[in-house]
Amino acid sequence: MSKIPTKLLRWYKLNARTLPWRGHADPYAVWVSEIMLQQTRVDTVIPYFEKWMTRFPTVESLAQASEQDVLNLWEGLGYYSRARNLHKAARLVAEKFDGQLPHTVDALRMLPGIGRYTAGAIASMAFGLDEPVLDGNLRRVYARLFNIDSPADSPQGEKLFWSIASENLPKGKAGDYNQALMDLGATICTPQNPRCLICPLMGECAAQKLGLQELRPVLKAKASVPQYVQVAAVIERRGRVLLAKRPSRGLLGGLWEFPNARVTGDPARMLKKAIRGATRLTVRAEAELGVIQHAYTHFKITVHAYRCELLEMSPDKNLKWIRLGELEDYPMGKIDRQIARKLSPSSLRAG
Ligand code: ADE
Repeated sequence: MSKIPTKLLRWYKLNARTLPWRGHADPYAVWVSEIMLQQTRVDTVIPYFEKWMTRFPTVESLAQASEQDVLNLWEGLGYYSRARNLHKAARLVAEKFDGQLPHTVDALRMLPGIGRYTAGAIASMAFGLDEPVLDGNLRRVYARLFNIDSPADSPQGEKLFWSIASENLPKGKAGDYNQALMDLGATICTPQNPRCLICPLMGECAAQKLGLQELRPVLKAKASVPQYVQVAAVIERRGRVLLAKRPSRGLLGGLWEFPNARVTGDPARMLKKAIRGATRLTVRAEAELGVIQHAYTHFKITVHAYRCELLEMSPDKNLKWIRLGELEDYPMGKIDRQIARKLSPSSLRAG
C-alpha cells in the first residue's frame, strides 16, 4: 500500500492554500473556478472569480446573461471559448437540469467546455466522488514521484498518467487528494528548483532519489512558434471609432477589434492593400499609433496600429461605429484593448 495518500493528506491539512472556491458548498462555484483555472494561474483567477460570483451568483443568473456581458467579465483571462462554453452550458443546465449540475463524470462531460479534467475536478471536489484529475501540475508531480521517462504529452503518456492518477485515490477523499497534489505542484514540486527538502513526499519520490527531478516530466520536442505581423486601422469620425466583431467561433470569438490584416512586408506600405483584402474598407494610413506585441499559445504577433482616414466602406453587419466613451462596454483581446486605451482613457478597466 502506497504511503503517498496518507502523507499528502496530512500535509494538506496543515498547508492547504486558502482559496475563495474552497469550502464552497455550491458545485457551480467549483465549476466556474475550474474553468477559469484550466489555463490560468491561481493568482490571476482569484479577482475574476470573485467578480464573477458577485455578478453571476447562480447558474440561472449566468444563463440569463447576454454573451457580451459574459465576455466583458472574462476580458483579460484569455481563451475566450471557455467563457462562451460556460455560458452555453449554464443555459443547458438551467433548461434541462433545473439549474443543478449532473452528478456523474459521464454526464458532466456532455456539457460544453467540460472535459475529463474538469469533470473529475467537479465530481471529486463538489460531489465527493472517487474520481481522478490530471493537469500540468499533477503530471509533473507524478512524473517525479514515479520517475516516468515516457513523454507526458504523448497519447501513451496521457494513458499512463491517468491510470496513475486513478490508482492512489484515497476512498472518500479524492477531492482533497487532488487539490493537495495541485498545491504541492504549485508551491513545492515546481517546474524549476523544486523544494525537495521540505516536500512531504521526498521519501517516496523515485526521481529525487536518482537526482532526476529537474529532468521530469519528459516532454516531446516543441515545434518553433510562428511570428506574424499585422496592421490595425483606427478609423475615427465625430467621436466614434469603427470596430469589427469577430466570428463567434475560434480565437477571440465574439470579441471586438480594430479592423486588421496580416502583412508580410513594410506595414505602412502594405496597409491599404492588406486592409482592403481582409475587410470591406478602403483606408489611408495617417500616423502610426504604436506597435504592440502579444504571444498566443501557438504563435506570436506584432501589431502596428495606424490612425487611418476612411476612403470607402461597403455595408458590413459586423462593423459598428462606437463612441469613444463606450469602448469599455465592448469586450476585446489584449492587443485591441491596448489600442483602445491609446484613444480613450475611459477604456481603462480595473483588473
Ligand atoms: N488548479 C485547478 N484547480 C485548482 C484548485 N481547485 N485548487 C488549486 N489549484 C487549482
